[in-house]
Amino acid sequence: MSAAPLPDPASVTVRAPAKINVYLGVGKVRDDGFHPLETVYQAVSLYDDVTVTSAEEWSVTTMVGGPHVDHLAIPDDATNIAIRAGKALAAHHGIDRAASIEVNKNIPVAGGMAGGSADAAATLVALDRLWALETPDEDLLAIAAELGSDVPFALVGGTATGTGRGEIVTPLEDNGSWWWVVIFNEEGLSTPSVYGAYDLLEEGDHDYRIRPEMLDALRSPQPSGLDVFLYNDLETAAFYLRPDLERTAEAALECGAIMTLLSGSGPTMLAFANDAEDARLIASRLGGRGYERTAVVHGPVAGAHVVAYQ
Ligand code: C5P
Repeated sequence: MSAAPLPDPASVTVRAPAKINVYLGVGKVRDDGFHPLETVYQAVSLYDDVTVTSAEEWSVTTMVGGPHVDHLAIPDDATNIAIRAGKALAAHHGIDRAASIEVNKNIPVAGGMAGGSADAAATLVALDRLWALETPDEDLLAIAAELGSDVPFALVGGTATGTGRGEIVTPLEDNGSWWWVVIFNEEGLSTPSVYGAYDLLEEGDHDYRIRPEMLDALRSPQPSGLDVFLYNDLETAAFYLRPDLERTAEAALECGAIMTLLSGSGPTMLAFANDAEDARLIASRLGGRGYERTAVVHGPVAGAHVVAYQ
């Protein structure tokens, strides 16, 4: 008996992960204003869910999906990155269609975890499925790169290197399950301001390449070989702008973190833990010291993927 063809979905929901940079090497600013990067991205278990439905006009609504998002400084007009993603996909296919986009936000805004990029990547995948466009992966990655430096990684997920300005993504073999305590911050920190401070402090003139030994450590499932390679070139600039972040790092070490790291351009800080149990212990100790806004996450996890057709 042949199965009846499935009806077109009325709406599609896609989940996209937050990212951290377990390594972020930054070179001297390029002529186009971007900085050359060598980074190791990891997708972690904190997600935004994006639901798209065909509509007459483009619109976006953002809902607070979890305890880590309490201020919604997110535009609800055409400047919103999810709407820009939808329009870019429609333009790529030469179609005149629009959608309403609903973002259920868990990833902190302006936190250095690429929440906006996750929403853009999720919108691309959701509309591709809703409208049965069958966009080749390389086209989706190219549209993603136009939208922002770390949108391609939100499509790919897992653990991957990022080169160029971060948009050239190459998946890495990662056999670990790495545990992190994410320490959120009330106040956002803009990415351009951190790169600006980086230039001001003349931090770019050094060898910022990923060491091959780091890739070996990712291949090994033992958390103990990776800690020595965790590094973020933007940390000095972020600590310069926000000295409180350095105190957060010190507190995390005192609470048992193996190592701490600025997440992307901050202000979110990461504490690296041995395993899930240690991570929960560190989070609970941090809570006792007034750092109550934390989440225990693990990586790597999948990139943007469909979770519901309705
Ligand atoms: O590409 P994206 O829109 O995420 O970049 C936001 C800003 O971050 C850029 O306008 C630039 O100021 C800074 N940036 C940079 N070098 C990169 C990525 C981002 O200077 N590789």
